[in-house]
Amino acid sequence: MQRLDKFISNLWYWSRKQIKKLLKDEYVLVNWELALDWQIKINFWDIISVWEENIEYKKNLYLILNKPAWYVTSNKPEASYASYLELLVDYPYANLVNPVWRLDADSTWLLFLTNNGDLTHNLISPKKNLFKKYLITLENNLSEKDEEKIKSWVTINKDTPKKYLTKPALLEKIEDKKYYISISEGKFHQVKKMFEAINNKVLTLHRVAIWGLELWDLKSWEFQELSSEQINEIFNK
Ligand code: URA
Repeated sequence: MQRLDKFISNLWYWSRKQIKKLLKDEYVLVNWELALDWQIKINFWDIISVWEENIEYKKNLYLILNKPAWYVTSNKPEASYASYLELLVDYPYANLVNPVWRLDADSTWLLFLTNNGDLTHNLISPKKNLFKKYLITLENNLSEKDEEKIKSWVTINKDTPKKYLTKPALLEKIEDKKYYISISEGKFHQVKKMFEAINNKVLTLHRVAIWGLELWDLKSWEFQELSSEQINEIFNK
C-alpha cells in the first residue's frame, strides 16, 4: 500500500506544484471515482487516472532499456553526460525503478531496471553466480596465454586496497580483437580493468545478456516492460 500523493509525486510526469493543481482541478480518479483525499492508501490493484490517463499502481516493475552511449546509469547527470532517466521520459514509473548492474557512459545495450529489492538482492548475490555477457572489441590481439589468463583469473585494482582476483570468465572469439566475454561478477569497470591487467584495452563494450535476459528486438533508445512471469521464467530456472 502507498499514499496516493506519494505515488503520484514519484511519477516522472508531474512536479509537486502541478500535482496539487491536478487534485484541486479534480483531475485525479481512483477506480473511476474522484479522489478528494490525498492521504488515502492505494493498493497495487487500484487504477489511478490522472488527466484521463490510467496509471496502474503496479507492485513489481521490470524494464529493459537499450542504452545508447553517452548516458550515465545514475539518476543525476555527470560531467557532460546526461542521466539514463532522460531516456525514460515516456515511462511514468521511471523514478521507481533502479538499474541492476550499471553500464559505463560509453557502454551500451542491455540495462535491466526494477523496483523489486528482493530480486535485486538475490541477483547480485555472489552466491548466485549470474553471468553477464558482453560483446567487446580490443585494441590488440590476444595471445593464447592472454586468453587463458582472462578465462582463469587476473588481478584488478592492483596496488590498491581494492586489489581483487577475478573469478573464471567465459571467452568466445568471434574474430581477431572481437570477443564475447561472460563474467559472474560486477565490479566497477570490471571488463575494462581485466583487459588493462593484461596490457590491452577495451575499445567498445556492449552488454548482450544478463543470464537469459536479452534485448531481443529492442532498438537503441527503446525500452520495454516485462511481466513478473517473464522474469521468473528467466531467473528462476
Ligand atoms: N564492465 C565494464 O568495464 N564496463 C561496463 O559498462 C560493464 C562491465
